[in-house]
Amino acid sequence: MNICDSDTIDFSLSTIYGASKVTDVLYADVVILNTCSVRSQSEQKAFSYIGRLEEFKLQNPNLKIVIIGCMAERLGYKIKKRFSGVDLIIGSKDINITAFKIINLYFTNNYLKKNFNYKFKVIEYVTITSGCNNYCSYCIVPFVRGIEKSINYQLLIDKCSLMAKNGTKEVMLLGQNVNSYKYNGVNFSLLLKRIASIENLYRIRFMTNHPNDFDDKLIDTITNEYKICPHIHLPMQSASNKILKAMNRKYTYEYYFNLVNKLRKKIPGVSITTDIIVGFPNETERDFNDTLNAIKTIKFDGLYVFKYSARSNTTAFKMFDTVTTEEKKRRHSVILKESNKISAKIISKMIGSTQQVLAEKFDNGIIKSRTRTGHKVFINGSEKYVGKIFNVIIKSVKVNSLYGSIINKI
Ligand code: 5AD
Ligand code: SF4
Repeated sequence: MNICDSDTIDFSLSTIYGASKVTDVLYADVVILNTCSVRSQSEQKAFSYIGRLEEFKLQNPNLKIVIIGCMAERLGYKIKKRFSGVDLIIGSKDINITAFKIINLYFTNNYLKKNFNYKFKVIEYVTITSGCNNYCSYCIVPFVRGIEKSINYQLLIDKCSLMAKNGTKEVMLLGQNVNSYKYNGVNFSLLLKRIASIENLYRIRFMTNHPNDFDDKLIDTITNEYKICPHIHLPMQSASNKILKAMNRKYTYEYYFNLVNKLRKKIPGVSITTDIIVGFPNETERDFNDTLNAIKTIKFDGLYVFKYSARSNTTAFKMFDTVTTEEKKRRHSVILKESNKISAKIISKMIGSTQQVLAEKFDNGIIKSRTRTGHKVFINGSEKYVGKIFNVIIKSVKVNSLYGSIINKI
C-alpha cells in the first residue's frame, strides 16, 4: 500500500510538474519519506532514518524533508518537536493532496515543465479501497487510514487502461480489504471482470482479503477469468478460536479451514498465503500450538509472521501484553522455520514442470519473473524478455526461489 502511495506521488510530481527521481539523496532537492505505523518497529526505523536525513541537510542546506504516511498522521506533532530539519508533514488521510502541497511549497516555476516523463512499470499497483471498517482489536489501520472508501469505478478502469496502453502487463489491486469494494453498485467481482476485459493487460492480482467477505461469486469470477492470477492472500492471524475472538476477526478456525478447502477445490492450482500474529495478549502455549498445527495441516504456499505489537487507540492496547518478548521471538521463529520447510517442499515439487511467467526485471544477466501463482522464477536471458509472458521449465530450487530456462523463445 505504501509503495503504491509513493508511486502515486511520483506519478503526479513527474507527469504534472516534470520533476524526476534521483538515484541518491545527495542529488535531491526534496526527500519524501513514506512511513508505516502497523508495528512499532516500523516507526522506530522511520525515526532513525529521519535523523540520518537531517545529516544530509548539513551538506545541502536547501534540501527539503517531507514526511508522509501513517506515522505522519499519528505522530506528526512528535516528529515536528524532535526533528527541526523536517519541513513538511502530511498524514495518510491527505495522500491525494500530497503532491500538490509539496509543489506549492517547494518547487519553483523552473520545475513546472509539464513533460510526461513517467515510465509505467511492467507491474503497477492500483489502490481500489482505502481505510478499513473491520477494527481488528490489534490493528491501527482504521485509526490512521480512516473508514473504508472505494475509489470511483470509472477512474479505476481509466487508470488501468492508461497503464496497459503504456506498457503495463499486470496490475495489483490493493486495499485493506479488496473483497468489500463497492462503488455505485459495482462490487469487487464486477470490477475484476471489467478490468479483465482491458486490452493489452494480461494479469490481475489483488490483496488483501478478509475471509468473511470472500463469497462464492468472487470464487467463480477468479476461476472463470484467466487473467486473474490464482493466488489468494488470506490472512488467518491465529487458529485458536479464543484468540480469533479476542482479535475481533469474526470467524472461527473451522470457517477459515473450510474456505481454504473450497478455494483449493474450485480454483485449479491456486496458491494460498497468509499472515500470522504470534504473542497476542493471553496467547497460551496451547493457543500457539493450535496455530502451528493449522499451518502444518493447511500447508500455505507462503506466510508472513509478525510478533504482536501493542498499538495505542486499539482495543488490544488495553489488554495486558502477557507474552514476553523472548517468547514472542521463539514463537515467531518456530512458525517461520515450519513455514519455510513447507514452502520448500511445495516448490521443490515444481521442478520439471512448465510454468507461464511474466518477466518483471532484468539485472546482471538474470531475468526476474513470476508464475501465475506468484512464485518467483529466475532465468538466464536478455533484457528483451522484460514485459513479456512466456513458458519456462523449472530446473532447480534455491532458498525458496525457483530457477528455470526458457522453452519458447520470443
Ligand atoms: N502487531 C503485529 N502484527 C500486526 N499486524 C497488524 N497489526 C499488527 C500488530 N499490532 C499484521 C497482521 C496484518 C499484517 C498486515 O500486519 O497480520 O494482516
Ligand atoms: Fe487492520 Fe483488520 Fe482492517 Fe486488516 S481487516 S486493516 S487487520 S482492521
